[in-house]
Amino acid sequence: MALTELAGLDQTKGLEEWRIAYLGKKSRLTELLRSLATLPLEERKELGAATNILKNELESEYKQKEDLLRNAGIAAAGVGIDVSLPGRSFPKGHLHPVSRVLTEISDIFAGMGFQVVEGPEVEWDHYTFDSLNIPPEHPSRDNMASFWLDAPPKEPEGWRMLLRTHTSPMQARVMEKVPPPIRIVVPGRVFRYEATDATHLAMFTQIEGLAVDKGITMADLKGTLFEFARRFFGPDRAVRFRTDFFPFVEPGAEMAIECAVCRGKGCRLCSGSGWIEILGAGMVHPRVLKMAGIDPDVYSGFAFGIGIERIPMLHYGIDDIRLFYNGDLRFLGQF
Ligand code: DAH
Repeated sequence: MALTELAGLDQTKGLEEWRIAYLGKKSRLTELLRSLATLPLEERKELGAATNILKNELESEYKQKEDLLRNAGIAAAGVGIDVSLPGRSFPKGHLHPVSRVLTEISDIFAGMGFQVVEGPEVEWDHYTFDSLNIPPEHPSRDNMASFWLDAPPKEPEGWRMLLRTHTSPMQARVMEKVPPPIRIVVPGRVFRYEATDATHLAMFTQIEGLAVDKGITMADLKGTLFEFARRFFGPDRAVRFRTDFFPFVEPGAEMAIECAVCRGKGCRLCSGSGWIEILGAGMVHPRVLKMAGIDPDVYSGFAFGIGIERIPMLHYGIDDIRLFYNGDLRFLGQF
């Protein structure tokens, strides 16, 4: 068999020599084709056509011989072609798990009549804090340690630039520009100057919601969020709604979902409580409406902010948030 292989190689090599001699760059045929350019038009046409026919014939003969030799080689080596072998698969990409959840949640709210809009990641402190009823000395600024930027001082005196610490600034931006009725959700990245550990990152993802109209009540807020939970988590997961505090809402609330792993009994994933907090919410504070130029005696609204990374973490039992962003395809490929 080694001999046949050798013979096969020899033959292919002979074939290559043949190709160089008759079809190669220095072959007479190529020389002839090159010299055509110097001939008068009539002769060039005639001779050109003939030479090309010759060339095509040589090439097709060469190809046939080559196939023949190759097939003979394969057969001789005893390597049949197994048509039942699976084809070669090509690696396919897919959406990042966080993008997937973000899109899915956006779609659910879009289905309830919310418009999906995005806002700038580089933001003014005015929109991030002040216009949301968080004055400079407010303690809640401490929870949102910020990445401050050197800003070209184009905007009003005293405004400073930072990477947004939440998606809430878009509430103020939209209310300032758009007259009610307003129904928006704002998916996007947010940034906090924090030490990184298994549950904290300097960059993570939120989706903000805002609805402003005449006669909006807490019942609308609860109805919307419960319906979201039903559609996203399924009808059999319990939902808990409790009071909480955020400067830009009054009253404020916090919503939690029954832990998927222990179903409310308490486990490591939910730190023994049986519940996982997924969002903050509330009725838009009258001062926030007023600062945006909306009359709080006529209009009311609700707002919410959902933390995204926690959701796939809880769903899949992922215990380290850093896994999402260290680019390890062995991890990401599982979703
Ligand atoms: N912006 C808050 C945060 O990042 C979350 C939040 C709470 C958003 C209550 C809201 C809200 O719109 O009403 O912690």
